[in-house]
Amino acid sequence: MPESIDQINLKYSERSALIEEFGDIGFFKEEEAILKRFLTPPPLTILDLGCGYGRTTIPLKKMGYDVIGLDVSGHMLRHRKWKGSDVSLIQASGPFLPFPDGLFDFILFSFHGIDYIFPEKMRSQCVREIRRVLRQDGLFVYNSQNDCFILPRPTLKPRNILSALTRWVHWRKLTGHYWITKGVSWPLILYAAPPSAQVVDLWKAGFRTIEVVGNQFLNYSIYYICERSDTCARRVRNGEKRI
Ligand SMILES: C[S@@+](CC[C@H](N)C(=O)[O-])C[C@H]1O[C@@H](n2cnc3c(N)ncnc32)[C@H](O)[C@@H]1O
Repeated sequence: MPESIDQINLKYSERSALIEEFGDIGFFKEEEAILKRFLTPPPLTILDLGCGYGRTTIPLKKMGYDVIGLDVSGHMLRHRKWKGSDVSLIQASGPFLPFPDGLFDFILFSFHGIDYIFPEKMRSQCVREIRRVLRQDGLFVYNSQNDCFILPRPTLKPRNILSALTRWVHWRKLTGHYWITKGVSWPLILYAAPPSAQVVDLWKAGFRTIEVVGNQFLNYSIYYICERSDTCARRVRNGEKRI
């Protein structure tokens, strides 16, 4: 039986030495700055979605938060990097979260993890599930690839213009916002969309984007900080400020 795109992407992440290596480096610079601004001190219950080898999960646990790490890959969750970390780990898939409504104060989906979910219908289901398990005043933070940046990149090498454009147009037509990129040894099919499209999709799933961090033309990775749109509506009604 042919492999699904999800399985191909999963195989890539499980064999990627880069993701494994990154497991030890802790927060990325931009991530740390965002967490400093938006994460209130413990106690908070945090869901680290697509936690991989615990790059963000283990530091959050050390900061005193009650963290659950969730990943679709059992291979990553059984890795020795987790030994002694005392983090609760769950193997499940983002579009099917095994939690009751409103359980989490903060949900993180870092390092383009959400872009691995295919097709777009499943990705949207995942965002709706995240909203469901987020408490009313909670925050959802993720980063995602931006195709406004990706398109001009190949044009830096003139001889690649035609092949890069053909490939890009072909894949866009076939798969909407998904594009094919060369993984370590086989193709990886990832989502990439401009911030304007992502903000609209977030709104449709019931989120208001509080802040978009990154430039549409200069950054291939953009961070989104979101709250539930019903929380935003309540604040506007009551004249409250965001804390
Ligand atoms: C690029 S890795 C990032 C890992 C980790 N968050 C980090 O920053 O090092 C993407 C992660 O998303 C996970 N992932 C992909 N699809 C998923 C899904 N449907 N549900 C949950 N996790 C998923 C992969 O298994 C992988 O661990």
